[in-house]
Amino acid sequence: MSRPTDISAVPYQGPPLFAVPDDLVHLDVLNIDKTDERLWVPQGKDVWFRPLLFSTSQGYFVNLLRVRKCGILSRHRHAGPVHATVLRGRWHYLEHDWWAEEGSYAFEPPGDIHTLEVPDGVEEMITLFHVTGAYIYCDPMGKPEAIEDVFSKIDLARAHFEKVGLGADFVKHFIR
Ligand SMILES: [Fe+2]
Repeated sequence: MSRPTDISAVPYQGPPLFAVPDDLVHLDVLNIDKTDERLWVPQGKDVWFRPLLFSTSQGYFVNLLRVRKCGILSRHRHAGPVHATVLRGRWHYLEHDWWAEEGSYAFEPPGDIHTLEVPDGVEEMITLFHVTGAYIYCDPMGKPEAIEDVFSKIDLARAHFEKVGLGADFVKHFIR
C-alpha cells in the first residue's frame, strides 16, 4: 500500500502574486549596540530614531526611538493606534498611572492625549514604536502645534542619510 507523498516541505510552485511589495528584513534590531550609528536619525537634542519600515501606502511607520535625556519629551495626541515595546529604560505618561518598563508592551489608542516623561536616572530609553497616522503635538488644552507622520519621518531620514554619506535615496530601503 503506497503512502501519500509528504509535500509539506515543497516550496510554493506557482507564480508570484501580482503587485506584492518586496519583503524587508533588518538584522540586529534587538542587538542595539551593533547598530551602525549612521542609521540613527537625529530628531531633536539627545533624541534619535532608527527606521525599520516606512509605510507610505498605509500611513504608518515602525521605528526604534532612542532618548538619552531625562524629563518631558512631548505632549501629543494620536491620530491612529500605537504599539510600543520597551527595549531599554522606562518611561510613562503624566496622564496615566502605568509605567512602560523594559521588556513591556503598551497599546496607545487613537485619540489618547498624553505627555511622555523619561524619569531621572534613565541614561538611555529605547522603545520600538509602531505608529499609525500621526503624532499631533499639542498644548495642555489639546490645541495642535505640530504634526509628525510617516512623511515627516521620511524627510528627516533623507536629509540625515545624505549628510552621513549614505545618500538620500538610502531611505528607499525602508519604504513599502
Ligand atoms: Fe504616545
